[in-house]
Amino acid sequence: MKYLNTTIPVSWYCQSEKFEFEIEKIFLNSWQLVGPESKIPNIGDTIKLTITKQPIIITRINMNRLKAYFNICRHRGGPIVSGNGCYKQFQCQYHGWIYTNEGKLKNARGFDNNEIKKSDFNLKEIKVSVWNGLIFINFNEKCNSLESIYEDLEKRINKKKFSSYQFYKRDSYDISCNWKIYMDNYLEGLHIPLVHPELNKTINYKSYKTEIHNQFLLQWCLIDQKLNPYKNDSSEDLIAYYITIFPNVILNIAPGRLQTNIVEPINEKNCLVHFDYYFKEMDEKQIQKDLNFSDIIQREDIKICESVQANYESKRFKNGIISKNDESGVFHFHSRLKEILL
Ligand code: FES
Ligand SMILES: [Fe+2]
Repeated sequence: MKYLNTTIPVSWYCQSEKFEFEIEKIFLNSWQLVGPESKIPNIGDTIKLTITKQPIIITRINMNRLKAYFNICRHRGGPIVSGNGCYKQFQCQYHGWIYTNEGKLKNARGFDNNEIKKSDFNLKEIKVSVWNGLIFINFNEKCNSLESIYEDLEKRINKKKFSSYQFYKRDSYDISCNWKIYMDNYLEGLHIPLVHPELNKTINYKSYKTEIHNQFLLQWCLIDQKLNPYKNDSSEDLIAYYITIFPNVILNIAPGRLQTNIVEPINEKNCLVHFDYYFKEMDEKQIQKDLNFSDIIQREDIKICESVQANYESKRFKNGIISKNDESGVFHFHSRLKEILL
């Protein structure tokens, strides 16, 4: 019998060539979540980071505007910024070229004015945009606007105002599995009763639903009133929303809190997953309860994802099969991957 709902080939989870192809085709062409805008509140505040091996700086130009650049000097590739801080201008660490915060080359040490035209050597810009207090970047200058992607989501989640939530902390997890195994696992609730016994008690598994939208995928379920690990806030429904924006942005919304997950691909067998916590109110006891509960679930997911990666190394397992009812999120994700990568 021929099945149309098979998974992508298992070899795609194990080959370095496929991994490099995904970085180029998917990650350098999609909006990548960076973190909270509240980290750079003042003009000149700058953060340095690396996303999918791309060295980046993001800086505040004025109260309403951020700019992002490659942290790569146009002279011979030195680093412009060595760490986070507040900068009036940027001086390359290697031979001292100076750039304005707007990315314009101001001083090209070692070069006469008639030797180069400075405006030919401004910093290379990266698209940057903010949604609900969260910074996103996109390496493709011709990409669709971030708003066009998130306006759909705003309608569905009733315009929740996360920008007023406060950032609490980031927890990062090194995981020995391909980034797609982590996403596959996230995109279905079928594993919950077996892998997450505590979570299974907390939610109403029978209420678990998956909705496929144009720009995002939503899974949601009701939370048990008595076992609710989140804030008891009567202004919000007792619902957990699990949202995925292709390829690797996850928003976990529960009463009084937003948790974002960034699934950062490292190589074909490893990913790094960042959990950023944002809360409506800073209630330390409540926060610790939430963090501990999340950590338990995350460790259960890591264990199963790493086992699956090890099994995918087998030369005798070519692909799996996806349930139409209970794994529609995985089906949608794999269809998208096939469209882009085949
Ligand atoms: S590499 Fe930056 S000044 Fe030379
Ligand atoms: Fe899970």
